[in-house]
Amino acid sequence: MNVLGFESSCDETGVALVRVETDQPPRLLAEALHSQAAMHEAYGGVVPELASRDHIRRVLPLARQVLASAACSLGEVDLVAYTRGPGLAGALLVGAGVAVALGAALGKPTLGVHHLEGHLLSPFLGGEVPRFPFIALLVSGGHTQLMRVDGVGRYALLGETIDDAAGEAFDKSAKLLGLGYPGGPALARLAEEGDERAFALPRPLLHSGDLDFSFAGLKTAVATQWRKLGPAPSPSVCADLAASTQAAIVEVLVAKTLRSLKDSGLKRVVVAGGVGANRRLREALTAGAARLGVQVFYPPLALCTDNGAMIALAAAMRVQAGLDQGTRVGAFDVRPRWPLGELAAA
Ligand code: KG4
Ligand code: ZN
Repeated sequence: MNVLGFESSCDETGVALVRVETDQPPRLLAEALHSQAAMHEAYGGVVPELASRDHIRRVLPLARQVLASAACSLGEVDLVAYTRGPGLAGALLVGAGVAVALGAALGKPTLGVHHLEGHLLSPFLGGEVPRFPFIALLVSGGHTQLMRVDGVGRYALLGETIDDAAGEAFDKSAKLLGLGYPGGPALARLAEEGDERAFALPRPLLHSGDLDFSFAGLKTAVATQWRKLGPAPSPSVCADLAASTQAAIVEVLVAKTLRSLKDSGLKRVVVAGGVGANRRLREALTAGAARLGVQVFYPPLALCTDNGAMIALAAAMRVQAGLDQGTRVGAFDVRPRWPLGELAAA
């Protein structure tokens, strides 16, 4: 079965084709992606209306590109998947509209996928795939969650952020330092040249005893330090502040993840979402997990951030697990706010 997947929940238009065969792991046949980051940079963040319009411009050329590079005709597509939520309503509607229209035209079923399920199953497109059960650390621009994953569709939330997401903490701190949008990767690059012990920044909720996160206070602390540095801080001081910020975010993420592993006794952890591309996080988590005898799984770097492959994959895995077959109704909705816990009931 060939699954064509569309992702348009935020500022990336992603399309991909995944093949599932009985008793075989899903296989990515082709994918294409367009990032709107450069377009939104001038505004310092995602402008929802511009995002929707750009998805409309990109989605069909990307779909043609994917089918051509997989040498697959539209008639060979068996299921059309799309991100149903969470995300920006207008942006989601573009992918959903195209997918459902395509399904209706082809006489094939469509399946609306939860964006975070896409992220947390994305390591199944990597070289070494995890076995269930495992802990998943989901760290994106909009979410920071620790989950216990017992199988496809069997997710239990263990802890989450009570305010900003980890990616937001990266992005907002980067913005303060004048690093543009999205600032996470830029802040991480600058941090490579800095001393992470230079600034004493808070580690919010580090000792809270639970698995929740909070990053809003950290952003305020970074803003305070930045103000104290005056109008023209030296590049090395900027690098020190970037490194100290990254260290604070990473330390909390790693500590809570290790705690969830100790509490659950599980020996596998999956890291997914855009912040999962962060090298410092990968190093610290891999080292901490090794001390507990835990194996860490990452999606391929290119699949850490939003993409169509994870949406096609999640749909394929749901079909393979017998949880979904898609629908042929033709009507559709999107769920801009969709708690992962409601997935089973949806
Ligand atoms: O998963 P994703 O592509 O989109 C959402 O679903 O939100 O995650 C995007 C987030 C942004 O906040 C971005 O700054 C962050 O991931 N990010 C990084 C890195 N690469 C992407 N943060 C820190 N270090 C990185 N290398
Ligand atoms: Zn995402």
